[in-house]
Amino acid sequence: MMKIAVFNATEKHGVTYRLKEIFLESFRDEAEITEFYFPKDCPSFCAGCTICFRGDEKKCKDAQYTQKIQKALLEADLLVFASPAYVFHTTGAMKTMLDHFGYRWMPHRPAKEMFSKRAVIITQCLGAGDRSTAKDIKDSLSWWGVSFIKEYRFKLMSEIEWDKIDEKKRNKMSSKLTAAANKFKNTDYNKRPHTKTVTKIKFYMVRMLQTDLGKKNPEYTDFKYWKENGWLGKTRPWKG
Ligand SMILES: Cc1cc2nc3c(=O)[nH]c(=O)nc-3n(C[C@H](O)[C@H](O)[C@H](O)COP(=O)(O)O)c2cc1C
Repeated sequence: MMKIAVFNATEKHGVTYRLKEIFLESFRDEAEITEFYFPKDCPSFCAGCTICFRGDEKKCKDAQYTQKIQKALLEADLLVFASPAYVFHTTGAMKTMLDHFGYRWMPHRPAKEMFSKRAVIITQCLGAGDRSTAKDIKDSLSWWGVSFIKEYRFKLMSEIEWDKIDEKKRNKMSSKLTAAANKFKNTDYNKRPHTKTVTKIKFYMVRMLQTDLGKKNPEYTDFKYWKENGWLGKTRPWKG
């Protein structure tokens, strides 16, 4: 059964929630959907202890939350992120979750599974900030190694309460998301998505960096991780 992991930037059942529900509607009967709502499902800030960067992410003070999120991220065929714009950016709650996965950025210890994921980002705002909000999320996804990322962004323009939004406008947003969901339903998840050049460029830049770091200190955590994965040799995370 197809697996979907959903990350909601607020706990509110507002517009963002409605848009996300419309996208998920047709998957409900045929996919296993795991949803996270922030801040509830990752309530504390990263304290900057760097234990994760040093290789012991299971010892994070918030491991009881981050380990569940990690599992869902690795197992999912499709990742869905939904966020309103809060002062032009994603919510502090979503950012808090993303901070906890800084150690998964490519210059550190990216999970090879991420290179073959597909991801959807849904953002909306009243007038401006949907793009920068999506970028906040996309920055992490792309540095985690995800190549296939589709953004669905909306500007409400007049009202921020779903029921008060003009019906025509609501239908337009719904149609866009239903069409997107259909595309994602008809995708063969056994086939890897195309790996973008930008992902490969990031990988090769970090590969050079790790090779250099390893010369200076062969015990360096990130260098050892890259070496163990064979990425400093011929193995690539988007193949095999
Ligand atoms: C704290 C806060 C900050 C917001 N900042 C912006 C903003 O910078 N630009 C914008 O167009 N809308 C902004 N909005 C509106 C939201 O992006 C969104 O349209 C609204 O909260 C309705 O969505 P929701 O029901 O999912 O919360 C803000 C809302 C809140 C609560």
